Formats: sequence, C-alpha cells, structure tokens
Amino acid sequence: MINYIESEEHKAAIIEINRPDQLNALNNSVISAIDRELEEIRSNKNIRSVIIRGVGQKAFVAGADIKEFQKFNKEEARTLSITGKERLFDKISNFNKPVLACINGYALGGGLELALASHIRIASETAKLGLPECSLGIIPGYGGTQRLGRIVGVGKAMEMILTAQMIGALEAKEIGLVNQITDNENILLKSLEITKLFHRTSPESLSAAIKSINSCFYPGGSKVESEEFARLFETPNFQEGVNAFLEKRKPNFNK
Ligand code: COA
Repeated sequence: MINYIESEEHKAAIIEINRPDQLNALNNSVISAIDRELEEIRSNKNIRSVIIRGVGQKAFVAGADIKEFQKFNKEEARTLSITGKERLFDKISNFNKPVLACINGYALGGGLELALASHIRIASETAKLGLPECSLGIIPGYGGTQRLGRIVGVGKAMEMILTAQMIGALEAKEIGLVNQITDNENILLKSLEITKLFHRTSPESLSAAIKSINSCFYPGGSKVESEEFARLFETPNFQEGVNAFLEKRKPNFNK
C-alpha cells in the first residue's frame, strides 16, 4: 500500500502511496500505514523532513477511496472524518518535522486535503488540483473547508469547493496553493533539494516554528509564539546558532 524510502544524503523520508491502479485513493490501510511510518519518523533523529508522493505518472492521490465509503451511514461517515484527521491530516499539519507534498498528478478531494495539511507543496506542471466533493453529494471532510481558505483566501476556496472544478498547476501557483512548480521528471529531485535547506536549521526551531505558525489560526496564537521562542533559548542549538554567527562560521546543529 505504501513504500518507505530513506535518503541518507537528504536526511529525508519518502513515503510513497502505492495504489496507482486506483489513482492512489486513500483507504483505511493506506492511512494506517502512513500513520505508523510517521510515528517512527517522529523520533528518528536521522530524519529531518518527510516527502509524500504518489506512485505512477498520473496521480498524487485522487481522493478518499469512494468505493470504501460508498455505503457508510452518518455515524460511520463522522468516524471516517474524525479519525482520518487524527491519524493523518492533523497529524501531518502538527508534525514536528517539515512535510512536503510532491504533487505528481491529480490531487483531488482527500488528496488535495493531504497536500493542504503538508507544510510545503511542490507540483508538477501537469498536476490537477481540486476539491470535487460537492459533485459527489458531500463536502470535504478531511480539513479541506478549513485549510483551503486559510491558504488561498476564502473567496477562492468558495469558488473551488462550490464549483467542484479542478485547477492546473500554473493557477495553483498563482493563487499560492502550491509553493513551486517543476517539470514532471524532476519533481522528486526538486523536493529533495528543498529538504537539504533544512540541514542548515535547528530541528527544535523547525518544530517550534510549525507549532507557532499553525497557532496563528487560534486565539492565543501570539502567546504560543512567545512560549516557543523562549523555550528555544534553553536548547544547545540556540547557543550553537548564535555562537556560529558571532564566530563567522557555519553552525553545527545537534540532531
Ligand atoms: N476512490 C476510489 N477509486 C478511485 C478514485 C477514488 N477517489 N479515483 C479514481 N479511482 C479509481 C477508478 O474508480 C478507477 O478504478 P477501476 O479501474 O477499478 O474502475 C481507477 O481509479 C482509474 O480511474 P479512472 O476514473 O478510470 O481514470 P480517469 O483518468 O478516467 O479519471 C479522475 C481520473 C481523477 C478524473 C477520476 O478518476 C476521478 O474523478 N476520480 C475521483 C475524484 C474524486 O471525486 N475525488 C474525491 C473523492 S472524496
């Protein structure tokens, strides 16, 4: 269901969703498998970041698995939404290391929601992105109605969700939905290149920055920032970062 690859050079974990014949639709087994990998990665000091991608040329993820939920009743649907967020979407959003979505094709429904929960989104030129749930008689249930508007503005989120239309990579870049676009062949390389930039930063800073940036949506976010800022002053990596600057050398951060 998923492949797990570690790049020692990039200190990055690559999680590949491997159901290309079903356009990598997210079913319960895929969600559980990613959840398990993330729990291993969380405390693995050799890994500084995570890349999520889909196997095959066609899709990142074409949504939650419609065949799996087609007969669900109201209670089952509520559980699907809530546990999916706990095990995957919110877990990624609040992860202690940067997560990059490498959008190598369709990112639809739960697929776009997975990308929205990630911290950085890189798309291939032919990627197609959308939240088509209203065309299935439902709405996005994995955080799409919450995260899309925060990233692209409520006006564009309304348009994308209410019309159920897909947009291409260029438009996605224009509206800030993806950070960068690259040609199809080089999308993984491009994503790996970005992961190398994290090597120049303190791991504790990245974790604190993710927590603090996410807190901007809630009351008390500014307090979270001050707390995280203060906490970092007690870390050896703060001393190392500042000493390196003053001594005009590159920092050598602890893992
Ligand atoms: N859930 C379950 N299966 C899916 C799926 C999904 N979200 N998306 C694609 N698939 C399956 C198709 O059913 C098909 O399986 P089959 O060969 O067993 O019939 C296979 O993946 C290939 O998809 P297909 O529709 O034949 O490819 P296409 O190139 O004609 O169309 C899409 C591609 C992405 C436009 C189309 O698959 C699609 O609209 N998918 C659903 C998108 C969606 O609504 N996502 C939100 C879900 S909440």
